[in-house]
Amino acid sequence: MLLGVPIMGIISAEKTDHTNMANRADMFSLFGRMMDDALLQIDHQSVIINANHGAVRLLGEHLMGASLTQRLIYSELMEDLERCVASNEITEFAAIPSNNEYHHIQGKIMPFGNESLLVLLMDMTLPHNLEKMRRDFVANVSHELRSPLTSLIGFVETLQNSPDIEQNMLERFLKIMEEESRRMSRLIDDLMSLSRVEVDEHIAPTGKVFIRTLLTSVIASLNNRAIKTGHVINLDDKRVHMSEEPIVRGEVDEITEVFHNLIDNALKYSYSKSIITVEMSDTTSGQIIIDIINRGDGIEERHIPRLTERFYRVDKGRSRQMGGTGLGLAIVKHIVNKHRGQLIITSQLKEVTKFRVMIPYFHTLLSGLRGGDDPA
Ligand SMILES: Nc1ncnc2c1ncn2[C@@H]1O[C@H](COP(=O)(O)OP(=O)(O)O)[C@@H](O)[C@H]1O
Ligand SMILES: [Mg+2]
Repeated sequence: MLLGVPIMGIISAEKTDHTNMANRADMFSLFGRMMDDALLQIDHQSVIINANHGAVRLLGEHLMGASLTQRLIYSELMEDLERCVASNEITEFAAIPSNNEYHHIQGKIMPFGNESLLVLLMDMTLPHNLEKMRRDFVANVSHELRSPLTSLIGFVETLQNSPDIEQNMLERFLKIMEEESRRMSRLIDDLMSLSRVEVDEHIAPTGKVFIRTLLTSVIASLNNRAIKTGHVINLDDKRVHMSEEPIVRGEVDEITEVFHNLIDNALKYSYSKSIITVEMSDTTSGQIIIDIINRGDGIEERHIPRLTERFYRVDKGRSRQMGGTGLGLAIVKHIVNKHRGQLIITSQLKEVTKFRVMIPYFHTLLSGLRGGDDPA
């Protein structure tokens, strides 16, 4: 309420003196500076008299003297402005301007004195896109859950209607039903992981993670699968101080999930009987680099920026056949972000594909906190 007093004061002063142009200019600059949204004052010919920083950000430079209808092109703007002048009331509108089709704008027009109008433009593009992402995500999850469910229901019905089914047929059906159930279970596990990391992505991790030990155990846990496909997984240490155990600030379970997903992908999408290399090295700026390198068909350039999107798969059929959910790299990306790290993907077709993870060393973070004076 403290803030309310002076502002109410300005508003009532304005009410008692409608012709006080200087007062209105003051009000405009006061409110204009307070808000991130675009605020413009225009005359009844839609010529811009005043504009705040938000307006410049949204509509570009050199606004003074320009016509608003040329800077914000959408067919009903003139009508809305006229409606506001005629009714002398706040008029609202929503627009996707034809000179900037990716923008969603919500606007309000209000009479401002006798000869001008105030136009407030709120950029709703981000909320609109987030809402679209949320809707797409729900649709994707429903679809991904529905297909194994439909298949399961189909087999249950078939079995119910075939009392004399042969043993080998029965076993085949049960095997498929088991695979479909496991697919659903994996999807739910991945969705839970994703939502867990999303919730606390902004909270910096507090634990200590011994990376070499962790990588050794992830590799050991995947070794049985590697043997089945004739893969060999090597761990190479190319750090400067190889005798020291590399430590990062992080959550063990989450970092384990990162490398489990990346090495699992390397096994799934590389040539059988090939070598997968997990290589540790250092950056010059106090980060450990862990590269997961495999040989395979590779990934076309155009897919690379989209791989960490939820459910994005280069070859959906292949991913499904390999038991993938399409969420692995989305989870990896979130966890790496949470650890203030970076994920870089490079690939040469029919050659080497490399997933590079960089995470700050524990001592780098400490020296950062102390103002960078740590000799280590
Ligand atoms: N090492 C790799 N080599 C080639 N393609 C890969 C590799 N890792 C991931 N991909 C591609 O990225 C997609 C997304 O990976 P991910 O999110 O882990 O989903 P999933 O493995 O469940 O399909 C995969 O479907 C695959 O097309
Ligand atoms: Mg995967």
